[in-house]
Amino acid sequence: MVSLDIEALGARAEAMIGELSAISAEPTRLVRLFLSPEHRRASDLVARWMSEAKLEVFEDALGTVRGKLKGYDRGPTLLIGSHIDTVIDAGKYDGTLGVVAGIIAAEHIGRSCRRPPFNVEVVAFGDEEGSRFPSTLNASAACAGAFAPAALESCDRDGITIAAALKAYGKDADLIASAAYKPDDIAAYIEVHIEQGPVLEAENLSLGVVTAIVGQSRERVRVGGEAGHAGTVPMALRRDAMTGAAEIIGEIERIARKNFEAAMVATVGSMAVYPGAVNIIPSAVEFTVDLRSINDAVRRAAIAEMKAVACRIAQRRRLSIEFESLLDIQTVACEASLQERLSRSIEAIGCRSIRLPSGAIHDAQMMAQLCPSAMLFVRCRNGISHNPSEYADPRDMGRAIAALVQFILEFDLKAHQ
Ligand code: GLV
Ligand code: MN
Ligand code: MN
Repeated sequence: MVSLDIEALGARAEAMIGELSAISAEPTRLVRLFLSPEHRRASDLVARWMSEAKLEVFEDALGTVRGKLKGYDRGPTLLIGSHIDTVIDAGKYDGTLGVVAGIIAAEHIGRSCRRPPFNVEVVAFGDEEGSRFPSTLNASAACAGAFAPAALESCDRDGITIAAALKAYGKDADLIASAAYKPDDIAAYIEVHIEQGPVLEAENLSLGVVTAIVGQSRERVRVGGEAGHAGTVPMALRRDAMTGAAEIIGEIERIARKNFEAAMVATVGSMAVYPGAVNIIPSAVEFTVDLRSINDAVRRAAIAEMKAVACRIAQRRRLSIEFESLLDIQTVACEASLQERLSRSIEAIGCRSIRLPSGAIHDAQMMAQLCPSAMLFVRCRNGISHNPSEYADPRDMGRAIAALVQFILEFDLKAHQ
């Protein structure tokens, strides 16, 4: 068991997370999108920290910053990471904690006299949130060798494709395949992340071990009607795209609620109304659906039901309707022996933990296509995330880093080759 100064580790993580949170596209809220100038600045800062921690830094074709612990160029690699992109009006811990924890832990291992017989590499992905482009997890997909080239054509709100954004970022899309790790070179992937939910806090625990990461569907729905004068067209004669969309959204909520046993949740988080004026009956409404469940079959059946119900509503209201599938990510189980090792590492630093599923998606979901993957969750205040009031106690972060160091030192390469 290692003896580490938990308070000092936590204070250092908090300071680094604070520094990263100052890198934002907007002065009054945290916005750091994939392949933006802020992504560039955050990557440069992470690269500097990695160099200071004596990691050899490399940036791949999708902008993932990778820092390899020098002097361990034998055997396979243990990857540790998370992401540095954010949602719009984000909290500062989501993703960044895992990157900072990886750098601090790798630095500690580099300085330690106990040298593990494998490489340690820290990765900072830039596309976990899917806040800029409709497709997401592209950075970790490229590392896992699972990048779908069709994603290059997905557009942001300004009509900029990933292909164009990559070029502006100074990257060559033809090199994306070279970002893939070779499965034989990678022993495992570990990600530290805030829980983003209330379970650990309710259990009065600092840390938890993730059992599985939820599957998710994202859809875009377009409802078309007819614009008209808000004062002259009687209610019965309207083809109002907005009231049609509202009825469909109520049905989406009903479908999610009835599937509570499969832990289903559904969110309509963005909507555009056209032409968008107080005195015009809306001619079109476009909205997104984010629907998640731990059961992939139940999730896909719910998407099919939503489409069928929406078509019936549209027909009755004489509206047009179109669906565009943006994402379909399967539920992924975290590797059992890594879960066990993480639990033991948490015990070794004197903490108790529980196992819990993740309702948020994570880069670990993609990395599981490459290698055994697992996650360590850190309690966050009131379970709040994707919100600027997101907060993790530095002592909990310090415990997570100490558990991660313990995990690396005890990692059994033979069990994962
Ligand atoms: C990202 O945090 C997501 O779960 O959508
Ligand atoms: Mn995240
Ligand atoms: Mn997030």
